[in-house]
Amino acid sequence: MRLPGKTALITGAARGIGFEFARAYIAEGATVALADINAEVLEKAVADLGPKAIGVQMDVTRQDSIDAGFSSAIKAMGHLDILINNAALFSAAPIIEITRKDHDRLFAVNVAGTLFCLQAAARHMIPRGSGTIINMASQAGRRGEGLVAVYCATKAAVISLTQSAGLDLIRHGINVNAIAPGVVDGEHWDGVDAFFARYEGKAPGQKKREVGDAVPFGRMGTAADLTGMAIFLATPEAKYIVAQCFGVDGGNWMA
Ligand SMILES: NC(=O)c1ccc[n+]([C@@H]2O[C@H](COP(=O)([O-])OP(=O)(O)OC[C@H]3O[C@@H](n4cnc5c(N)ncnc54)[C@H](O)[C@@H]3O)[C@@H](O)[C@H]2O)c1
Repeated sequence: MRLPGKTALITGAARGIGFEFARAYIAEGATVALADINAEVLEKAVADLGPKAIGVQMDVTRQDSIDAGFSSAIKAMGHLDILINNAALFSAAPIIEITRKDHDRLFAVNVAGTLFCLQAAARHMIPRGSGTIINMASQAGRRGEGLVAVYCATKAAVISLTQSAGLDLIRHGINVNAIAPGVVDGEHWDGVDAFFARYEGKAPGQKKREVGDAVPFGRMGTAADLTGMAIFLATPEAKYIVAQCFGVDGGNWMA
């Protein structure tokens, strides 16, 4: 076991990549608070993972919800070693159709949510002199995409926040880094596929097949493909790694 006795809070963990991270962390000996806005799916996720999983209903766009969620998770687990900022929303639209409402909604979850959860974790970790914070970025944060301007901009901001927070917090023994997945199969990508079906006139499932075929590794990623990096970044072996963003994408970004 690589994370024995460690405690983690993972946002957006009721499904998808966050849920898989929770499962992997528990298998490595950690106790995990799964934080999500979706109470129904969260309840099922926590039940599936057993006694080392704790459910925390949290809306990362609301400061009172972040404060209450961190407070109850830390009370239940005793302390917090690791935060994974994973909750995010996706949207797509041509530039001239982007609405202010959609822009604000995505920035509230993906950027402000990441920053203020990071801040809540750091306030707890600083007096302890150690901690690990992992932000979920994306290949979308490394370059623009014609129909995905807002999501790409939020993920570029996550990479930038990782750099700034990484540089500020390492003096307190807190390592902040990011993971940039490429295309990961799951409910999130079902939604992405539906956006492209609408805007590019593709048949349902077509975009997914095309992006999977284009990955140098030969297929889309799975949430399980990402767990190795999420575990490694939380181990003592990663202590000298600061303010970095790691592509775990089957070579997709490089290609
Ligand atoms: N799936 C991919 O292809 C892919 C690629 C690159 C990056 N990512 C990133 O990885 C992370 C996880 O992606 P996923 O595919 O598992 O997404 P997902 O949509 O399956 O899961 C996101 C979770 O976040 C939760 N959430 C949404 N708004 C919230 C809020 N306000 N407060 C708390 N929780 C909230 C949702 O309820 C959901 O459970 C995201 O940051 C995403 O941007 C995913």
